[in-house]
Amino acid sequence: MKILLLGKNGQVGWELQRSLAPLGELVALDRHSQDFCGDMANLQGLAKTVQTLRPDVIVNAAAHTAVDKAESEPELARLINATAPGVLAQEAHQLGAWLVHYSTDYVFDGSGSQPWKETDAPAPLNIYGQTKLEGEQLIAKHCPKHLIFRTSWVYAARGGNFAKTMLRLARERERLTVIDDQWGAPTGAELIADVTAHAIRQVVQRPAGPQGAAGIYHLAASGQATWNGYAKHVLSEAKQAQPAIELVAKEVTPVPTSAFPTPARRPHNSRLNTEKLQTAFGLTLPDWHTGVARMLREIL
Ligand SMILES: NC(=O)c1ccc[n+]([C@@H]2O[C@H](COP(=O)([O-])OP(=O)(O)OC[C@H]3O[C@@H](n4cnc5c(N)ncnc54)[C@H](OP(=O)(O)O)[C@@H]3O)[C@@H](O)[C@H]2O)c1
Repeated sequence: MKILLLGKNGQVGWELQRSLAPLGELVALDRHSQDFCGDMANLQGLAKTVQTLRPDVIVNAAAHTAVDKAESEPELARLINATAPGVLAQEAHQLGAWLVHYSTDYVFDGSGSQPWKETDAPAPLNIYGQTKLEGEQLIAKHCPKHLIFRTSWVYAARGGNFAKTMLRLARERERLTVIDDQWGAPTGAELIADVTAHAIRQVVQRPAGPQGAAGIYHLAASGQATWNGYAKHVLSEAKQAQPAIELVAKEVTPVPTSAFPTPARRPHNSRLNTEKLQTAFGLTLPDWHTGVARMLREIL
């Protein structure tokens, strides 16, 4: 099996380089790749890459993920998050290849307190969510053989992340103020990449596959938290993992989203119902605390 991975150096892309490698021949690209075009802004170059490599599976981990910046550069966000995935979908369909893609809890408006199901109506609050939704729609239109994993609150040991920011601030300040009215599940890039590899094996290597495996799936760690609860957990877990750690922060004060005005509106309820994925692929999604504890032990 030949797999083409785009966005190889993002949080999820980096972990996909590891998890997809045992499945077959992996060609991993980023926007600066020389041999083949991996630039999502170069639509002709992308199409040529697919036509030349003729992969069995395309995995797209590239995206315009700067949620606030997307508000001031909607054309670029749309090009990367919607138009380019649409081109990948057309090219994949021409080859009979699978297209695996990632989307977001931000396709929902965040109302209510129930975990969102795949059948719930999307209603994005911001440009990022809108362009990600358009990407989903173009993929579904052009390439029936698709897996779209909507995930949330992604972190990875590599690069910057929320936990690292909280640890830095807790070393500098006695009091942290962290939002307490947005709910979701911190989800490790490792988990997303591992589930992706399992799902690809099932849909590609077993021709009978799970019936109707193509489609949208919610993929997030189990459990739920607010950013405030997440921050508190990071600090207490860090003290356990490294008792000598010097944290001056004495409290993590809960504040509403309105305390930190941002260009993009964000949903209050980012909980995702993952039953469909767990049932379709016979997987169990671990509680978010497990992955965060592991990541902290890697970075501390
Ligand atoms: N991060 C989250 O909390 C979150 C939540 C829900 C869903 N998701 C979705 O999950 C997927 C993976 O996200 P992530 O957290 O891994 O994001 P990430 O770390 O920001 O990675 C995105 C990657 O896309 C690349 N990229 C941007 N523009 C590109 C272009 N023109 N050509 C090629 N590559 C380009 C970036 O490269 P550069 O570094 O060179 O810019 C980066 O490596 C995305 O579809 C995202 O929408 C993420």
